[in-house]
Amino acid sequence: MNTITVDLGAKSYDILIGEKIFAECAAFIKKNYSGKVLVVTDENVYKSCGEKFLSAMHGINFEVAKVAPGENSKSLQTAEKIFTQAIEFGLDRKSLIVALGGGVVGDLAGFVAATYLRGVPFVQVPTTLLAQVDSSVGGKTAVNHALGKNLIGAFYQPKAVFIDLETLKTLPEREIKSGLGEVVKYGVISDEKFFAYLEDNAEKILSRDVEVMEKIIQRSCEIKAEVVSKDEKELGLRRILNFGHTIAHAVELETNYQKYRHGEAVSIGMLGAAIISQRLGKISAAEVDRLKNLLERLELVTKCEGCDVDNLYKFTFRDKKTIGGKVNWVLMKNFGTVEISSDVSEEVIKFALKKIA
Ligand code: NAD
Ligand code: GLY
Repeated sequence: MNTITVDLGAKSYDILIGEKIFAECAAFIKKNYSGKVLVVTDENVYKSCGEKFLSAMHGINFEVAKVAPGENSKSLQTAEKIFTQAIEFGLDRKSLIVALGGGVVGDLAGFVAATYLRGVPFVQVPTTLLAQVDSSVGGKTAVNHALGKNLIGAFYQPKAVFIDLETLKTLPEREIKSGLGEVVKYGVISDEKFFAYLEDNAEKILSRDVEVMEKIIQRSCEIKAEVVSKDEKELGLRRILNFGHTIAHAVELETNYQKYRHGEAVSIGMLGAAIISQRLGKISAAEVDRLKNLLERLELVTKCEGCDVDNLYKFTFRDKKTIGGKVNWVLMKNFGTVEISSDVSEEVIKFALKKIA
C-alpha cells in the first residue's frame, strides 16, 4: 500500500493506494467517526463494487444513496434527493459522506458534503481511473447547470482518498482510456521521466498490469497532490492541470458532451495545445510527434473528426479560466514543463484546431 499526503495544513489528508483498500477505508471510518455514514454511489458501481465495499463496512451505521449512472446525475435535482435522504436518515455534523464511484459521484457527493449543514466531512473512494488520478484529489466539487458544466460548486477537501486497484478490473475499456488521457497530462506538465515510463509500458498499461497501474496512479496522485498543496484554489500554479483542457472543453461543447469521454477530449486538446506550442516556437515538431505517438499507442483519440473549427475557436472562450476575455493557454516548453500564456493569436489557434478537427 502507498500513501501520499496532500499537504494543506489543517486540511491535509492522505491518499491510500493499493489492494484491499476498502478495509482500510472502513477502519478509518471506525477510528475517526462514530456517527452515521451516507454512502453515495451509482447503480453501475453498486453492481460492480457495492457488495464488497458494503461488506467491509460491517458494524458501521450506514445507508446507501444510489443515483443513476452518468453526467445527468451531477445536478441540483439529484443533490436535493440526497439532501432529503440525509435529513430523513438523521445525518448530522458528526456524520460522514462517502463518495463511492467515478468523477460524477465524487463531484456530486462532494458538493452535497460541502453544503449539507454548511459542511459535513466526506471521503472519496474513486472507482474509475479518471477519478483515481484526478477528480478525487484536490477538492473541486460541483454540479452542472443547464447553461454549463460544473458551474455550481465549492472547493471542499475530502478527509481521505481510498484507491482500491481491484475496482479497475470491472471498468469498461473506454473508461480506462479516458483516465489515461489525464495520466499522460501529468507526464507532459511535470515529469519527463514519467512520460518515458508511460512510453516504455504502454502495452502493460493497456492490459491493466496491476503493478504498472499502481505506479501510474501513484505518480499521477503525487503530482496532483504537489500542485494542489501549493495552490489549492487555482490562483496560479494549479492552472497547469488544465493542459489540454481549453480545447477539450470546446470539443465537448461542440459535440454536446455526447461523443467523447472527458479524457478523450483532453487527449485531442493536449495535441492541439502541443501544436500551438510548436507554432509559437516553444517546442519542436519531433516533440509534438512524441506526444501524438504515445497517445496513439495508448489508443486515445487525437482528432475530433467533423468538428467545426470556427465553433471550436468560439468555444475556447467559454473556458472557466478565461478572464476578461483572455484565454489562459497552458503551453508546452518541453516534456515536464509548461507555461501559461494569454498571448496566442486567432491565426495560431485556428491553425492548431484545423490539425485536430
Ligand atoms: P463517471 O463517474 O460517469 O464514470 C464512468 C462510468 O463508469 C459510469 O457509467 C460509472 O457508473 C462506471 N463505473 C465507475 N466505476 C466503475 C467500476 N469500478 N466498474 C464498472 N463501472 C464503473 O465518469 P468519470 O470519467 O469517472 O468522471 C467524469 C466526471 O468527473 C465529470 O463530471 C467531470 O466533470 C468530473 N471531473 C472532475 C474533476 C475534479 O477535479 N473534481 C476532474 C476531472 C473530471
Ligand atoms: N482537474 C483539474 C484540477 O483539479 O484542478
